[in-house]
Amino acid sequence: MKCKVCRQPAVIEVRRHNAGFCQGCFLAHCRNQVERAIKDHGMIGPGERVLVAVSGGKDSLALWDLLLQLGYEVDGVYIGLGIQGYSDPSAEFARGFSAEHGAKLLEVDLPDDFGFDVRSGAAADHRVPCSACGLSKRHIFDRAALEGSYDVLATGHNLDDEAAVLLGNVLRWDLAYMARQRPVLPAGDGFPRKVKPLVRLGERETAAYCVLQGIEYQVEECPMATGNRHLGYKDALNAIEERSPGTKAAFYSGFLDRAAALVAEVGEQSREGLHPCPGCGAPTTATELCAFCRLVDRAAEQKRRRLSLNR
Ligand code: AMP
Ligand code: FES
Ligand code: ZN
Repeated sequence: MKCKVCRQPAVIEVRRHNAGFCQGCFLAHCRNQVERAIKDHGMIGPGERVLVAVSGGKDSLALWDLLLQLGYEVDGVYIGLGIQGYSDPSAEFARGFSAEHGAKLLEVDLPDDFGFDVRSGAAADHRVPCSACGLSKRHIFDRAALEGSYDVLATGHNLDDEAAVLLGNVLRWDLAYMARQRPVLPAGDGFPRKVKPLVRLGERETAAYCVLQGIEYQVEECPMATGNRHLGYKDALNAIEERSPGTKAAFYSGFLDRAAALVAEVGEQSREGLHPCPGCGAPTTATELCAFCRLVDRAAEQKRRRLSLNR
């Protein structure tokens, strides 16, 4: 197979585009896709400061690299989730990229800074680990972006992630989640602007980007996520994509083009009635403490109980 752009031998095939690319043209293709997503959706303005949430995995490290390549001023934030055998090596990949590129990395550690890890927090708050993890990450991302006066927070959600989340939302007809599933959420009501510049790239492409660009990343998936619903949706979409390449991108882009505006109003309603949490100041609709402060309190309470039992 030859490169679609320059006719040199191809190193990767992207079936969705019915095209092969050589190394140089593939890296340029990734940059173009990110540039186009940023422009089409008005994600980042000239001169704006970006904070990218970096997990140490392929997507967020590719994103950090691509945004730097495109000339943006980008710092990273890594959250240590206290997941045994997974969090420490993930942190090392994030630190390695930061050191190699002279880019600033902020670090927040759930156990050190908030007194719990994902597993114990989830147990104390009667949630599944991914739910406690997602709640903590969203809270800490928002806070880090606002405290650092960044204009925008970027995450490494790619086309596969977004299509799988959309499938889950459609299967449940969860209009409120669908309304928030846009590639840009504007700032306001105590939230920073949030953007997903990788929505035009699949995870095979972000992995290939890292390999070809010499970026080392955490290859292991989070052990807590094994068997969760989201991975099931990804598998289902991959089976469909295998038979009909391009379906995943058509599903997601069709949603953005034809359905997102229809459900947008529901999303606006979900931001109504927000007020600052008395514990941490983050916006919440809860009558007392926000969900994150309640998680922190319950985890602390559980710890006290365990300690008194062991005495
Ligand atoms: P996930 O929710 O694990 O699919 O990750 C989605 C995105 O959230 C990643 O691409 C990162 O941008 C961000 N992210 C996930 N885990 C972390 C972490 N531990 N620290 C910082 N950012 C993270
Ligand atoms: Fe959140 Fe695994 S990364 S539960
Ligand atoms: Zn709070």
